[in-house]
Amino acid sequence: MDLGLPDWVADWARDVPKLKVAPPGPKSKEIIEKDKKYVSHAYDRLFQFTMTKGSGAAIMDADGNVFLDFSAGISVMNAGWGNPRVVQAIKDQADKLIHSLANDAYYDKEAEYAELLAKISPGGALESTFFGNSGAEAVEAAIKLSRYYTKGYEHIAFMGAYHGRIGNALAMASRVKYKYGHGPYAPGFFFAPYPYCYRCWFKQEYPECNMLCIDYLEKGILEFGGPSNSPASIFVEPVQGEGGYIVPPKEFLPRMRKLCDDKKFLLVMDEIQTGLARTGEIWECNSAGVIPDLLLTGKASGGGVPFGACMAKRSIMDVWRPGSHSSTFGGNGMSIAAGLAHVKEILAQNLTERSKVLGAHAMKRLNELKDKYEIIGDVRGKGLMIGVEIVKSKKTKEPLYVPQIQGLAWRKGLMMITAGMFGNVFRIAPPIIISKEQLDIGIDIFEETIKETQSKMT
Ligand SMILES: Cc1ncc(COP(=O)(O)O)c(C=O)c1O
Repeated sequence: MDLGLPDWVADWARDVPKLKVAPPGPKSKEIIEKDKKYVSHAYDRLFQFTMTKGSGAAIMDADGNVFLDFSAGISVMNAGWGNPRVVQAIKDQADKLIHSLANDAYYDKEAEYAELLAKISPGGALESTFFGNSGAEAVEAAIKLSRYYTKGYEHIAFMGAYHGRIGNALAMASRVKYKYGHGPYAPGFFFAPYPYCYRCWFKQEYPECNMLCIDYLEKGILEFGGPSNSPASIFVEPVQGEGGYIVPPKEFLPRMRKLCDDKKFLLVMDEIQTGLARTGEIWECNSAGVIPDLLLTGKASGGGVPFGACMAKRSIMDVWRPGSHSSTFGGNGMSIAAGLAHVKEILAQNLTERSKVLGAHAMKRLNELKDKYEIIGDVRGKGLMIGVEIVKSKKTKEPLYVPQIQGLAWRKGLMMITAGMFGNVFRIAPPIIISKEQLDIGIDIFEETIKETQSKMT
């Protein structure tokens, strides 16, 4: 497999990073000042610079600095920033019809995209799709649909889960940071421990634990933890994303499938972050051979345009009648055209395989760093969805606050975002079309940053 950059990547985006001025430069500063005055401060704004254009795995700021991107816009731009097939599809669609009125009329590309999603769905079993505008909206659709279908109203989510910032999706978020000041939340949501083996909730070791965390869900939470036996759905991230890029043991998904079958919950697989080649699979649940009842996609499936979709087995989706759910912009011309082109590109370029190959290379290098540096506590991942957990010491595993390390890497030209319940996990999740050479350059910068941080600590 050729692991170089695709031909279409711009010249300025090849030999990166390249910084002309210390970021944020004067032009970025000017824009940031105006932004701070008029735009809500709710966004975290980790990077104090202004993005102006992207190509491949590189981002240029307003001052002409070029950064290497290890975030893919939070796992959105899997086939690369500025992918010409996606850009052309957006332009062609904009020329014809921007808003397709999917609420009230039919539109060729919407049917084409739904057909493609059905074909590539796990086991080809999720044949019907509801289109919305964001990941969180896909989650809300799944909550409504699972209640409508089961007539139940109780849901299981996991500690460390993230399913979005609105309504019931927010009720399933497990971090105080997301929920503080926004309650009260709807009743009916119960939390189970996710198999976070590096920090086992029960201080056990895998595999000797026999997955005690799942026993706790089955025999503790469901029987004595408060539900009234009105099951609707269990929401599972097959690799926990915002919770810290946590890869569960291989038994986890099959046991969730069995639990749902036994207790009559619908299994909802939230593949909004994991899907579409990020983990080296089209859907991560394929790696366990598990077919969910509903599958949620967002992020990469919109090709960079706001998008979310809830795919379901036909027998489940068909309980909804016309008018049961709706959205003015769901199935919108721009997002459908961009998403369809992006998914086609992911398939045509075999990005699942590329993600596996590059991911294996990155995992090897990062594990070598783990052996070398005391502050790297854990390295885990699938494909190009890799988490590096930073600690004060390997022995205590006490989380080390990482924004300073993140800032240091950024000033060297590497954009990395974080995750984790303690905010101490770096995500290595670049656009999958990144070259092996660029991936190595990024890991070299990451090492320099870790080395400098550790030497300052001792
Ligand atoms: C697993 C998962 N579900 C849902 C969401 C929410 O998606 P959105 O931000 O598009 O609403 C996210 C976003 O990060 C996510 O990672």
